[in-house]
Amino acid sequence: MLRRSFPRLSRFVSSKASLSSCIVNSHNEWDPLEEIIVGKIEGSTIPEWHVAGKAVWPSRYWDMYKTKAGQPFPRELMNAAAKELDYLAQVLEGEGITVRRPEFNPQDFSKPFETPDFKSKSGLYAAMPRDILIVVGNEIIEAPMAWRSRYFEFRPFRSLVKEYFQKGAKWTAAPKPQMSDELYNEDWQHNSGEFNSVVTEFEPTFDAAEFTRMGKDIFTQRSQVTNEFGIEWMRRHLGEEYRIHVLDFQDRNAMHIDGTFVPLGPGKLLANPYRPCVTGRPVKTYAYKDKTYEYRLPEMFKGWEIFVAPTPELSPEHPLFFTSPWTATCNVLVVRPGVVVVEAHETKARQLFKEWGFDVIPVPFRNFMPFGGSFHCATCDIRRTGSLQSYFD
Ligand code: ARG
Repeated sequence: MLRRSFPRLSRFVSSKASLSSCIVNSHNEWDPLEEIIVGKIEGSTIPEWHVAGKAVWPSRYWDMYKTKAGQPFPRELMNAAAKELDYLAQVLEGEGITVRRPEFNPQDFSKPFETPDFKSKSGLYAAMPRDILIVVGNEIIEAPMAWRSRYFEFRPFRSLVKEYFQKGAKWTAAPKPQMSDELYNEDWQHNSGEFNSVVTEFEPTFDAAEFTRMGKDIFTQRSQVTNEFGIEWMRRHLGEEYRIHVLDFQDRNAMHIDGTFVPLGPGKLLANPYRPCVTGRPVKTYAYKDKTYEYRLPEMFKGWEIFVAPTPELSPEHPLFFTSPWTATCNVLVVRPGVVVVEAHETKARQLFKEWGFDVIPVPFRNFMPFGGSFHCATCDIRRTGSLQSYFD
C-alpha cells in the first residue's frame, strides 16, 4: 500500500516549489489571507477535572468539570456556536478566502481513553485549530499540548494536514508529551505574587496559540500550558532564521498569547490593558479602572503604535468555560492589512478600530466564546500572501 501510494505523491509536489508558491505559506498575523481552517464545535465534550485546568478554568465552572466530564456542553450553546462558525466561514469565503474545516466523528471526543501514563474520561473538541496547529512559513507544526483531554486533538485535522503535505508543505509533530503525573504540579495553588506554572519541566509542552508570528521574530510567554522546555524545543526546531522572544505579562492564568498581545500589522500592536507587558522599556501609559498602568515592550518595538483594547461589553453572567472575557475585544482576526474581523456586539471595539484606521468586518460570536476563544482561536491560517521578512531591523 505504502509503496503504491508514495510515487503518486510526486504528482503534487513541484520539486522547485518556492516558499511563496507552497500551499502552506504564512509568516505573520496580518498579510492577506488566502486559505484558513475554521474549527467545528460538533461533539465538544466537557473535560474531566484536573489540576492543569484548575490553573485557568474560572472557578464558577469547577463543579461542572467535576460532575459532568464526558458529557456534551449545553446543546443550545453548541448549536448557536455552530451557526456562528458557519457564518464566519461564509464571511471569510465572501472575502475570497478558501475555508477548510476539520473532518472527524463527533462521537470521538466523548470516548474515554488510556495510555501507559494516564487515563482520561474524554477528549475535548476540534473548535480551536489555533491551539493545536501553527504554520511557520511552509511548515505545519502540531503542538505538544499540555492537557490530557487534548492528547488526541490532532486527529480531526489529520486529513487536512496530510493533504497539505501531499501538496508540498512541511509537516512536523512536536514530541508527543507523555503527560504522566510528573508533568503536573499536583498541589498547585494560585499564589498572589509571581507566575507559578502548573506544568513542570518534565518534557516539552506548548499550545500553538502561545506563539505569535511577526516574520523572523516570534513572540511567546511561559504559561499554564507552555513550559521553558517547550519554548526551547521551538527555538531549536526553527533554527537560526528565527528569533523567539519570551515576554512577561504577569498573567498568573496565562494560556495562549492571542488574548493578550495581538499584532495588527507592521508597526501596529493591540494590547490587553488588563495584562500589561512588563518586559522592556515603558512605551505607553493608560488608565484602566481608575488606575494608571505602564505598558513596556522590548526596545525593538520603538516607533510601534500601541492600541489599547477596550473593556469587553459582555455581561459578567455570560458563560465562559475556559477564559476571561478579554477574547471578546482582543482575539481579533486580521484578514488583510487594515481589515479586521471584530465581534459584532462589541460596539466600543468596533468604533475604536475604525478610529484607529481599520475597516471592520463585524461577525457575531458570543455563543462561540464560552468554548475558550474568539476569531483568532477558532481559525488557523494556512496561506497568506507574502514572504519571510524582518519587521524590526
Ligand atoms: N487565556 C486567554 C484569556 O483568558 C484566552 C486565550 C484564548 N486563545 C486561544 N487560542 N484559545 O483571555
